[in-house]
Amino acid sequence: MRIRYLGHSAFLIGEVLVDPFITGNPLYPGKGYEEAKVIAVTHGHGDHLGDAAKIAKEKGIPVVAIYEIAMYLSKKGVDVIGMNFGGTASVEGYNITMVPAVHSSGITEDDFTHSGGQAAGYIISKDGKSVYHAGDTMIFGDMKLIGDLFKIDVALLPIGGFYTMDTKQAVLAAKMLRPKYVIPMHYNTWPPIQANPEDMRPALKEEGIELIVLKPGEEFNL
Ligand code: NI
Ligand code: MN
Repeated sequence: MRIRYLGHSAFLIGEVLVDPFITGNPLYPGKGYEEAKVIAVTHGHGDHLGDAAKIAKEKGIPVVAIYEIAMYLSKKGVDVIGMNFGGTASVEGYNITMVPAVHSSGITEDDFTHSGGQAAGYIISKDGKSVYHAGDTMIFGDMKLIGDLFKIDVALLPIGGFYTMDTKQAVLAAKMLRPKYVIPMHYNTWPPIQANPEDMRPALKEEGIELIVLKPGEEFNL
């Protein structure tokens, strides 16, 4: 499975486009989601929901999201798969399982904030490989359970702090999740979320976990 980093928390995982923050994303490399066959949105904030509606309609592809966000997108004419924690959507040969995140999820539009349900993360699996996209979250104890339930190959973890985990929390999260690789995300997009991913390398190495730092536009082949 190919994992392509599109800046901030946007990734193309195989053909699953997660958190398509394209417009206004200072780190977006200018292209990289052409192959997308399905979109998955972790929560309602603009830097995650992003261009999901626009891209879904342009490409004629569905959006997987928590029920409340799915209802919101459905009213905009988007083909949606509205699900909830613990459920798995099977789309285009991928199993996309929704897991909790500890974060908020309002959808702010003009002067109104719609309820976006709760913030989520996803385990995306195909051909025996699994990638965990944590969404925006602080560290939480059930990451141990997520690590027990799934054999995670790659964990995409937010490290920028302020809105999410920082590097210290991400190291402890990785110990609970027990992936083979950690790819950092949600950092250095704006001043409040500056972080140096290399701070995590020694502690992850001690756990037998390899840190993969991708620049926007770069890929990791799993
Ligand atoms: Ni957020
Ligand atoms: Mn965010």
